[in-house]
Amino acid sequence: MSKSIVRTSPSVAPAPVVLVTSGSMDGPRNIITIAWATNCSAEPPMTCIAVRPSRYSHDLISAAGDFTINIPRVSHLKEVDYCGQVSGRQSDKFSDCGFTAGPSQKVKAPSIVECPVNIECVVRNTVKAGTHHLFVAEIVAVNADSDLIVDGKVDFSRVNLIAYAQNHYYELGRDIGVYGFSTRGKRA
Ligand SMILES: Cc1cc2nc3c(=O)[nH]c(=O)nc-3n(C[C@H](O)[C@H](O)[C@H](O)COP(=O)(O)O)c2cc1C
Repeated sequence: MSKSIVRTSPSVAPAPVVLVTSGSMDGPRNIITIAWATNCSAEPPMTCIAVRPSRYSHDLISAAGDFTINIPRVSHLKEVDYCGQVSGRQSDKFSDCGFTAGPSQKVKAPSIVECPVNIECVVRNTVKAGTHHLFVAEIVAVNADSDLIVDGKVDFSRVNLIAYAQNHYYELGRDIGVYGFSTRGKRA
């Protein structure tokens, strides 16, 4: 198969699509859609999100030093897209989307009750990476809908997850293998 040169751009795909909250229960609060998010440390558990400084969320996260990552279901797709088009400077996206702000356990930023998994994060480092700033954060609490938890872990096969690539949304479906299956029984 021959290869062709394509325009140099951020091309890692697929990306997750998550809803990140900032602010607090009793003050300003906001939701932003983020595709540039990844786990980046197992111990301590850490994650990072890339946010443009022009976003309202950037102001709120910088001021409070925390945020939550909420994993949406496919049924939340319209809200996911909306929270990525409209700024919280103009509108309250919690009420626009019919989302409930619930108190988080360990951070000021509220969690989105309707999302099946809520991940509470405290910013430990901010890295300026060109157009976006990386908020590198420690995961201090994770809550999930009880019916998703199997052996103390979230069973993501029970959530209709959304993926994102080149401006399009995809629904994740089939489980096609388990970690380590290629070497099972072959390694000493
Ligand atoms: C699918 C999708 C993914 C997005 N990913 C990011 C991202 O990773 N980082 C970012 O800064 N903006 C991202 N955006 C754009 C912001 O979500 C958008 O500008 C939003 O309106 C900013 O909201 P705020 O001003 O209330 O913070 C994304 C938008 C969409 C629709």
